[in-house]
Amino acid sequence: VNGKIVIPVVINVLYRTATENISDAQIQSQIDVLNKDFTATNADFGSVPAEWSGIAANVGITFELAGINRKATTKTSWGTRDAMKSTKKGGLDPTSPSTTLNLWACTIGGGILGYAQFPGGSSSTDGVVIDSKYFGLSGAGSAPYNLGRTGTHEVGHWMNLRHIWGDASCGNDLVADTPVAKTANYGDPAYPFVSTCLPVHNEMTMNYMDYTDDRAMYMFTNGQKARMAAIFTSGGPRAAIGQ
Ligand code: ARG
Ligand code: ZN
Ligand code: CA
Repeated sequence: VNGKIVIPVVINVLYRTATENISDAQIQSQIDVLNKDFTATNADFGSVPAEWSGIAANVGITFELAGINRKATTKTSWGTRDAMKSTKKGGLDPTSPSTTLNLWACTIGGGILGYAQFPGGSSSTDGVVIDSKYFGLSGAGSAPYNLGRTGTHEVGHWMNLRHIWGDASCGNDLVADTPVAKTANYGDPAYPFVSTCLPVHNEMTMNYMDYTDDRAMYMFTNGQKARMAAIFTSGGPRAAIGQ
């Protein structure tokens, strides 16, 4: 990687109702949130507890809107089996997935906020799906998931990050500097949240890869940054983007 990583982003909007046909401004607000959260310029970055101020990361990756595709559909919900990513199945195929981050905005259903494909999967389904209700700065009606952090969390997965609890009790997220967590945390836990995983330590509930409310998550770590950067290096699964 020579210079800064700037990721072109194509948005694929699938709508049945006018509300699902999110505005260009709403789309841009998600790009803006990603740019802030991945450069540690988010307004709440200063809330990072002192014990982690030395490892709170400026990931140094930015995003630029490269296009918006819109398609009217009759589907009321799309599920999590990638139909929205296929023109044949009524959705929209991804645009240049080896060099572009594709986002789909649609109604997923089942209470799912979003889902992502990890690096190394099929290019035909590569990208991130965010329910239209939680896309960008989505307004009070979508609280507590209205600050665009579903996008930040899902793009974290797309860049190879695991959940901070490792999807197991006191599990391993494959990142050395994130403290072990018992399980997913929700809401806005008061700091310090003492873990029941040993040895005694505080859980990093404000990490984007936890399940806390949007207002309660505001940091990646340097270890997560390194794991993300690795996929863009020569030989990595997203090397075509990392110029
Ligand atoms: N449940 C989703 C996932 O596992 C996303 C959770 C996002 N959390 C949020 N505060 N927006 O990928
Ligand atoms: Zn997740
Ligand atoms: Ca860890």
